[in-house]
Amino acid sequence: MSKIRILVADDIPQTRTEIQRLLSLEGHFTVVGEAGNGEEAVRLAAQLQPDVVLMDINMPGMDGITATQRITILVPQTAIIMVSIQGEHEYLKKAMLAGASEYLIKPFGAEELVTTIKRVVELQRIRQEQTGSGTGSLPKRRKMVAVVGPKGGVGRTTIAANLAIGLAQQAKDRVVLVDLDLQFGDIGLMLNLKPIRHWGELAGVQEDLDAEHLDGYLTPHFSGLQALLAPPNPQEAELVTPELAKRVLKALGDHNQWLVVDCAAGLNDHALDAMEMADYVLLVAGRDLASLKAARVTVDILLSLGLKAKAAAVFNGPVLPASIPVAEAERALGLPVAGEVEWDPNLVLGCLNKGIPVVLAHANTGISRSLAGLVEWVRGETKSDTVAKKSLVRRILSL
Ligand SMILES: Nc1ncnc2c1ncn2[C@@H]1O[C@H](COP(=O)(O)OP(=O)(O)OP(=O)(O)O)[C@@H](O)[C@H]1O
Ligand SMILES: [Mg+2]
Repeated sequence: MSKIRILVADDIPQTRTEIQRLLSLEGHFTVVGEAGNGEEAVRLAAQLQPDVVLMDINMPGMDGITATQRITILVPQTAIIMVSIQGEHEYLKKAMLAGASEYLIKPFGAEELVTTIKRVVELQRIRQEQTGSGTGSLPKRRKMVAVVGPKGGVGRTTIAANLAIGLAQQAKDRVVLVDLDLQFGDIGLMLNLKPIRHWGELAGVQEDLDAEHLDGYLTPHFSGLQALLAPPNPQEAELVTPELAKRVLKALGDHNQWLVVDCAAGLNDHALDAMEMADYVLLVAGRDLASLKAARVTVDILLSLGLKAKAAAVFNGPVLPASIPVAEAERALGLPVAGEVEWDPNLVLGCLNKGIPVVLAHANTGISRSLAGLVEWVRGETKSDTVAKKSLVRRILSL
């Protein structure tokens, strides 16, 4: 019988060593990796695809609950057992909702640990047999990323377009970039695509929106992605009801590997629906007080809607001596940082004029590398910076 492969995620090295020791008393287990925080746990889980992750709840940076949610999406065949201390019932409840299969309360002995792991592995095996989703036959996981931001002109479209291109370059599967800024969407402009087929044409469609049918409304881009463009005039945007948009997003999500959705500024119904349906919500903000204040309000709304766990910040905008440092902005928002996009107006403006996104026109530049980092983040391959503290944070929080 092959050994059960385990990843141990805990920020305290002694705890990891102790778990290793307990597991070594039984011959059935092998610890394939150790993570000291949530980001590392997600990265290693995606890379190593262990049978089980033993996940601590409280870790610096990304906590165990967020990491559980990510791993459940990225590596659904991996079972997660939360490891917590007494009194963390609320957190445990959240962890189970995020996709954990079981939990262990510290301190626990070897027997309890071993029985719990074996039970979870057995359950996972039965589940995979029933759904035919064992490793190898696992259907490719489809993911949706909503790019949102409360303020206009913060760079959502630039980020969404370049992210989708980066994904299309890496994934062999289909990527659809959706312009959900229905009135004034710029995806067509940015990719030099004419809106001959667009959202407005979908307005009258009553029948089922299957993949083949929807293909007729998408515009191919030479990078390999397909775009669902905004209508050429704002009147037509009115025809796209939130119900229709939801149906279309659902159908596109069902048939494509990646869906990147560029939302309009603010939080309209379309954006709220997209955020609800998305696996990741990228909140774009500048590192100035006004932008961070608006972003912070958005985070509170995400929290009240139960969507905060899948949100991450992307910083974009001019970097000036007075700009708020990333670590402080991160703390002010209380979100993990998916990336910081380098500010390069000359390159970006030139690209916009030519209709060729910067990652294609100038691949080997700082801004393109920062955008590639974002691609890696959504693909679950990078760690983000650790959280730091200090002064301005309090000012932003008290605004
Ligand atoms: N990293 C960057 N470096 C330099 N210029 C940038 C960068 N990101 C965005 N810009 C510029 O900022 C402007 C706004 O960007 P973009 O259209 O992507 O923002 P948006 O949030 O989608 O705006 P809107 O509210 O109009 O939808 C554009 O002129 C774009 O070229
Ligand atoms: Mg835009």
